[in-house]
Amino acid sequence: MKEVSLPATTGHGEKVFLSKPVSPLRVARGLRRSVLDLAPLFGGHEVISFSLAGATWHIGRSPEWARHVIGSRSMWADLGVLPLGLVGHPTYYAMGGLPGAPPDEHRSVRRAVIRSGPTGAVDLQVVRAGLATAERLATDPSSRIVDLTVFARALFLHTTAAAVVGVRLDGTAIRRVLHWFDAWTRLLSNPLIAVGGPGLPFTPAGRLRTVLARWYGWLESLLHGPCAEGGLAARLRSRTADGVMPVQEAVGYLATVLFAGTEPPAHTLLWAYTHVVDAGTTTTAGLPGVPDSVNSRRAEVLLCESFRVRPAVNLVVRRVFKADEQAKRRQRRPCHSASAETFVVAPPLAHQHSNERHGLPGYFRPLTDGPTHLDPDEYPGLGTGAHYCVGARLGMTVGREALMLLWREAELLRAPDPRPAGLITSLPRRLPVIRW
Ligand code: HEM
Repeated sequence: MKEVSLPATTGHGEKVFLSKPVSPLRVARGLRRSVLDLAPLFGGHEVISFSLAGATWHIGRSPEWARHVIGSRSMWADLGVLPLGLVGHPTYYAMGGLPGAPPDEHRSVRRAVIRSGPTGAVDLQVVRAGLATAERLATDPSSRIVDLTVFARALFLHTTAAAVVGVRLDGTAIRRVLHWFDAWTRLLSNPLIAVGGPGLPFTPAGRLRTVLARWYGWLESLLHGPCAEGGLAARLRSRTADGVMPVQEAVGYLATVLFAGTEPPAHTLLWAYTHVVDAGTTTTAGLPGVPDSVNSRRAEVLLCESFRVRPAVNLVVRRVFKADEQAKRRQRRPCHSASAETFVVAPPLAHQHSNERHGLPGYFRPLTDGPTHLDPDEYPGLGTGAHYCVGARLGMTVGREALMLLWREAELLRAPDPRPAGLITSLPRRLPVIRW
């Protein structure tokens, strides 16, 4: 057994965890299909550790571990974990986004995001406009068959841009941004990213520059174009105009907010709808059983239950932050980690755990009402503590309305395969096929 010590966090002192050393090969084998396949490696322990490429990695799954890793102000999503050459880069240095900002900056930008609206009452007009746009972009006009992935992603991109950033995106902009998200995700999930450096041509790290140049160029144009007063774009614009924040840092925060406000909530909705259809399919032998009462309370409960069983974000990666006072004095960004140790939270394992604890089968599907509020340390799929998701309320409201629309209007043509696929975020192996 190995001792792993994590720094104190708000209201909780430093904590030492006992970790089971495992071979990196076994972890790589466990991670081939889904993060759930790591479960046997834990063998009853909270944390497993292994060494890879000169760094020690610790993966944990308990509420205490989530609190000290995701919830802590001392931890940050350090970009240096991947050899992308983005740390201190003059143009792309804010790529770590909100969870990757040094703690002081994180606090101030988080406040700016919250003030721009996502935690307040959600304007249902914005949600309706998002649903109409998503329906139009995702539906094949002749067959009326819906591309559910496009539907969910276009919906959240449109509503996050309108409700938080303060800009209206048309169909062309939505398609273009989703294309950059895809390219970015593909490059980051390429295993070669860990071996190739940015200086080598044709490596994923090098290709990432091409994607970022276009994506960041477009985001910068948002800072100069028309946007709602009080929205995040307007707030960041005034910070850059005052010289408080470099333009590329503001652009990096817009990138995180749009990405975080699109992909995790879209995945959450797709899981919830898959669970509802899958549960219905088993009870009515073939076709979906629409729940008796389709109302917003029930939709929210099912979204929440589905989310508990299968969170959208599987792995959250952190290092301990170390302020660099010298760099600060020279007004350079003090981006350093205190050690090469890397800490990972694997929420689905905690969720699987909780199913057992609640007396539910490991493969529990949310057919019935469950709790509408989840303890964020125990179910950290929305983050926790200092990094608790600022868009949780917006995401749940939009997801609930979309779930009701799908429930009421969609006809099921093919049942889903609800087994998970994907590592950092996961989706069902096959989504339901539907038409309006
Ligand atoms: C209901 C669906 C959603 C899920 C499952 C989800 C998931 C998460 C998770 C797991 C984190 C923690 C990430 C980390 O610490 O590395 C997070 C943070 C965050 N989320 Fe969400 N999110 C959702 C909706 C949204 C929406 C709609 C927005 C739009 C504003 C948003 C914006 C953010 C931001 C800006 C952070 C960073 C917070 C910080 O570091 O202080 N999320 N979210």
